[in-house]
Amino acid sequence: MDLRQCSAVVSGGAGGLGGATSRRLVELGVAVVIFEPELGRAAALAAELGDRAVPFEGDHNSEADVLAAIEIARRLGTFSINVNSAGVAIAAPTTATADGVAHDMSIFHSMIELHLFGPFNMSRLSAAAFAANPPDADGQRGVIINTSSTAAYDGQAKQAAYSAAKAAIAGMTLAMARDLAAIGVRTCAIAPGPILTPRLARASDALKAELTKNVAFPKRFGHPEEFASLVEAILRTPFLNGQTIRLDGALSTPLADFGMPAPGAGPSPGR
Ligand SMILES: NC(=O)c1ccc[n+]([C@@H]2O[C@H](COP(=O)([O-])OP(=O)(O)OC[C@H]3O[C@@H](n4cnc5c(N)ncnc54)[C@H](O)[C@@H]3O)[C@@H](O)[C@H]2O)c1
Repeated sequence: MDLRQCSAVVSGGAGGLGGATSRRLVELGVAVVIFEPELGRAAALAAELGDRAVPFEGDHNSEADVLAAIEIARRLGTFSINVNSAGVAIAAPTTATADGVAHDMSIFHSMIELHLFGPFNMSRLSAAAFAANPPDADGQRGVIINTSSTAAYDGQAKQAAYSAAKAAIAGMTLAMARDLAAIGVRTCAIAPGPILTPRLARASDALKAELTKNVAFPKRFGHPEEFASLVEAILRTPFLNGQTIRLDGALSTPLADFGMPAPGAGPSPGR
C-alpha cells in the first residue's frame, strides 16, 4: 500500500487520539477526512494540517453521514484506511446501589451506541467501499483500526457499559478480520491505557497521579503520538491482522473507579 496514494476517514479525528492520528497520517502523505460531530473542531485541525486534511461534520452512527464522508475520501485518493477513535467518557452509575437504585438503561444504551455501534457502522461501510479498490501485491484493499481500551479486559467499578462496549470492540476484531479476508481488508484494534490527551491534561494532579499509579513501565501517561505510531505500525505490517493490541505500559488496573466527574464537570479519564 503506497500511503501517499491513500485516503482515510478518521472518526473523532480532531480528538486526543484521533487528532494525533490525523496529524500522523497527513505527515505520511495520506489524505484525511477528519470526521467530527462539530465542524468547527474538525476545521480548526484541518486548517493546521493543510490541504491533505478535510473537515467533515457527522455522527458515526449515521449511515448517510458516513457514506458522505467516504465519498469525499474517495475523491482525495484511494480510500483504504479507516481509523475509529470517537468516544466520550462520562460519569457512569454503578450497576445497582445499596439503597436499591438500578443503573439507568438509557445511559447503558447511549454508551454502547457511542463506543460500539458507531465504530461498527464506520467499519462495515468502509469495508464495503474498500471492496472496490484495486488489490496490492498481497491482495490487500484496506485497513480498519478501531479503538478499544484496557477497560475491555479490566473493567473498573462504574464502567459496566463502557467496558462492555470496549470488550465488544476487541471481540469483533478477529471476527471482522475473518469476514473481510475475502476482500483483502485487515482489521485491528488498539486498547490504550491512560493516554494524556488534551482533555485529560486539564484533570487535577491528584487524578493524574491516580491514573498512572498502576502503570508498570514507563511510569507515566502514554502520549497520543504513541497511539499514532501504533496506527502507523499496523498500516505498515501487512501480516498483522485480527489483533487487539494493548498500549498501556503493562498497566494493572485498580478495582475502584477513578472518581469520575459528573457530566459537564470537567475532564474524565476516558480510559
Ligand atoms: N485517552 C485515553 O486515555 C483513552 C484510553 C483508552 C481508550 N480511549 C478511547 O479512545 C477514544 C478516543 O479518546 P480520546 O481520549 O481521544 O477522547 P477525546 O474526547 O479527546 O476525542 C474523542 C473525539 O470523538 C468525537 N466524537 C464524539 N462523538 C462522536 C460521534 N458521534 N461521531 C464522531 N465523532 C465523535 C469528539 O468530538 C472528540 O473529538 C475513545 O473511544 C476512548 O474511549 C481513550
